[in-house]
Amino acid sequence: MTVPWPPTYYTSEKHLNLEHERIFEKSWLCVARSSQIADPGSFVRVRAGREDLILVRKPDGQVRALINICRHRGATLCMEKQGQFKNSIRCPYHGWSFNLDGHLTAAPFLHELPPETKERHLFTAQVAEWIGYLWVNLDPLAKPLMDQIGPLLQHRFGDTDVPGRYGCEDLQVAKEVTYEVGANWKILYENFCECYHCPTMHPEICQILPSWRTGYGTVSGPDGPKLEGSLLADDATGFSLSGKPAAPTLPGVPPEDERTFHGILLWPNVHLMFIPDHVMCMRFEPVAPDRTRVITQWLFHPEAILTPGFSPDDAAALVDVTAREDFEACERVQNATTSSYFEEFHTPHESLILDFRQWAHERLYAGLQQESASPA
Ligand code: FES
Ligand SMILES: [Fe+2]
Repeated sequence: MTVPWPPTYYTSEKHLNLEHERIFEKSWLCVARSSQIADPGSFVRVRAGREDLILVRKPDGQVRALINICRHRGATLCMEKQGQFKNSIRCPYHGWSFNLDGHLTAAPFLHELPPETKERHLFTAQVAEWIGYLWVNLDPLAKPLMDQIGPLLQHRFGDTDVPGRYGCEDLQVAKEVTYEVGANWKILYENFCECYHCPTMHPEICQILPSWRTGYGTVSGPDGPKLEGSLLADDATGFSLSGKPAAPTLPGVPPEDERTFHGILLWPNVHLMFIPDHVMCMRFEPVAPDRTRVITQWLFHPEAILTPGFSPDDAAALVDVTAREDFEACERVQNATTSSYFEEFHTPHESLILDFRQWAHERLYAGLQQESASPA
């Protein structure tokens, strides 16, 4: 079934707000690397949908996701990007203090205030850790993370364990690049749903993964029980611009994957690549209807990173050059979305775009009449 998908979905502030409300603020979102808050009391500030959150590691090792708003008169509690709390979070405005669970523990003249004051705990979000990343969900009724991503993993790999083989929890970020792209987040996501553009746009990656010249990558392909990975070119020994590996093969990678690239999109905001010697994670954050932030991290084994002469740059350069080609194309599409002539035609290579739209549409309009619900 083809769902309605007018070009205003790429330009309307109102539609983006609806996506925030019904997709980003109701889904599990990958927001930070667990190791960013390794020590008790350490925190990092992140965005989820339109909300500002503090992720803090408690002394017992658990992570709390606290909405970064004081329960007194609504001041932003914490302006720092990341740092370290002692045992509490103190609002600088009137001095209310909250413990790392978000419970109010102290306030000026607290004994003179009504008893219910003590119940004014910080609002919280659900939090989960998976493959070394922190995921949050603002919906208190949301089902566990695996309910959201398990079916996608199953569909792509035939089982849900594949990321575990790469030992993602133990890998470290060797390089991070943030891209600010002048296109709607869905144009980016739809770009990554298909490889029909690969033979035209990506000579570098097609050199290393020749099967991509067919117009099929590894996130989509002809229907089947599961999708295969892409083999490295005969003359390549690694997934990098030079075709050489940046590090030894990761310890858990099975022999059949030693020369294989796997990619998967985990809706709504993650793109993962599994390569024999590293893993890449790309996260998408909508900033405005026509602007998206893309945070890309390259993860390597800690021993490889410590090896003299190690550099992630050659491996990162292949994704970097490819991503820049993608983003340039996405901006071309965004540029045309305000024209009355804008329309689309999908080839069979692009069928995953329609699956993505179906998924998004169900979340935006399930149970509602399209005509009355659409803000666009
Ligand atoms: S707004 Fe935070 S203590 Fe008053
Ligand atoms: Fe691409």
